[in-house]
Amino acid sequence: MIYLTRREKFSAAHRMYKNGWSDSKNQEVFGDCSNPNWHGHNYILFVTVKGNINSETGYLVNLKTLGSIIRENVIQKIDHKNMNLEVDFMNGKVASSENLAVSIWEVLDPKVKMLGIELHKIKIEETENNFIEYFGK
Ligand code: NI
Repeated sequence: MIYLTRREKFSAAHRMYKNGWSDSKNQEVFGDCSNPNWHGHNYILFVTVKGNINSETGYLVNLKTLGSIIRENVIQKIDHKNMNLEVDFMNGKVASSENLAVSIWEVLDPKVKMLGIELHKIKIEETENNFIEYFGK
């Protein structure tokens, strides 16, 4: 089994906000992260896949193909967008990195399987001090 990680960057706006809670409850729980006028992050996404080396190519997977899948299904939908308002896979969810990691997993898992390999990990760096890792369960 071999592991390969592709890194992609995106910038997005969000607001930590739970539907059904009052503004004051959201403010109490999420503090500045619930600013009604939004704020943004420069996110770094790490997608780790795993599988066996193709004996003909010597590759686990063609990196151009993997990069295209990530860009078309994730980056183009979220880069320079408002996560709360315009990103289909975050619809109705609190815009946390935790939910983002799970959502990106759900988007990419079937696409990666079609390449004959498995998704292993989604890692999201929201700031240089904080990152989230999700392994699919
Ligand atoms: Ni934030």
